[in-house]
Amino acid sequence: MTAQRACAVSELEQDTPLRVVLDGVPIAVVLDSDGEIHAIGDTCTHGDISLSEGFVEGKTLECWAHGSAFSLDTGKPLNLPAYEPVPVYVVQIDGDDLLIDPQLTKDVPVA
Ligand code: FES
Repeated sequence: MTAQRACAVSELEQDTPLRVVLDGVPIAVVLDSDGEIHAIGDTCTHGDISLSEGFVEGKTLECWAHGSAFSLDTGKPLNLPAYEPVPVYVVQIDGDDLLIDPQLTKDVPVA
């Protein structure tokens, strides 16, 4: 599997998650207030809720349903009720194209 175009970089709005689906894998893409682009699994691990419908705050994306905030860097929930992490995807930029391989997740240390 290779990286594929997820969206245009220019269509990302700061702190406004964008849901993309690549090979059936839902991914939440976030341009944070530092200008960094993140891609994490879009499905909350507590319930079948799209995280991209939630709220960005700093380096977290908060599920609107019950308030678990997931780290955009590690995918880990920082508070209950969710306790399982979501995957974090490797993001590449090619011109105005944002590329993601839905099979390639970052190897985030579990701590
Ligand atoms: S469904 Fe996301 S915190 Fe409950």
